Amino acid sequence: MKRLLIVFHSMTGGTRQMAAASAAAAAAEQDVTVSLQAAADTLPEDVLAADGYIFATPENLAAISGMMKDFFDRCYYPALDLVNGRPYAALVCAGSDGTNAVRQIERIATGWRLKQVAEPVIICTHAQTQEAILAPKTIALADLARCTEIGALLAAGLTMGAF
Ligand SMILES: Cc1cc2nc3c(=O)[nH]c(=O)nc-3n(C[C@H](O)[C@H](O)[C@H](O)COP(=O)(O)O)c2cc1C
Repeated sequence: MKRLLIVFHSMTGGTRQMAAASAAAAAAEQDVTVSLQAAADTLPEDVLAADGYIFATPENLAAISGMMKDFFDRCYYPALDLVNGRPYAALVCAGSDGTNAVRQIERIATGWRLKQVAEPVIICTHAQTQEAILAPKTIALADLARCTEIGALLAAGLTMGAF
C-alpha cells in the first residue's frame, strides 16, 4: 500500500477545497492510502511515512502561508536526506498571483530532493478588495478539476511505481 500525504492550510476555504478535490481523486485509486492533513497537525513522522506529497497553500503576502511555513520549518530537518526522490506536486490558491508561493515550495522541495511530477497548479480567486479577500471562497468546478487531475496523477503514479 502506497501513502500519499496532502498537507494544506487555508484561511478562507479555497485551498481546502483544492486539497480535498485532490484527495478525493487520489482515494479513488486502489492501493493508495490518502492522508489529507492540516499543516498545523502534520508532524515529521507523517512526512517520513508517506511515499509522495501534495503541498497546498494560499499565497499570503507574496509567500506561502504562515502555517505552511511552520509545517516546513518543523519538518524540514527531521526529514532531510530521508525523503530523497519522492514525488510531489504543489497547489496554490491566490488572489491574483501565486508565483512566489510556488517558488518557495519548489525551493524547499529541492532542498528535500523531492521530484516534482506535475506543473504547479495556481488558482486565482480574483479577490481584490479587503472584503472580498476575507470572504469565504468557492473554487469553480473547472479549477477543482485541475486539482483532481493532480491527485489522480500522484496516486496512479505511486501505485504503478512510475516515479
Ligand atoms: C494577508 C493576506 C495576504 C494576501 N496576499 C496575497 C498575495 O501576495 N498574492 C495573492 O495573489 N493573493 C494574496 N492574498 C489572497 C489570497 O491568496 C486568496 O484570498 C486565497 O483565496 C487564499 O486562500 P484560502 O481561501 O485557502 O485562504 C492574500 C490574502 C491575505 C488574507
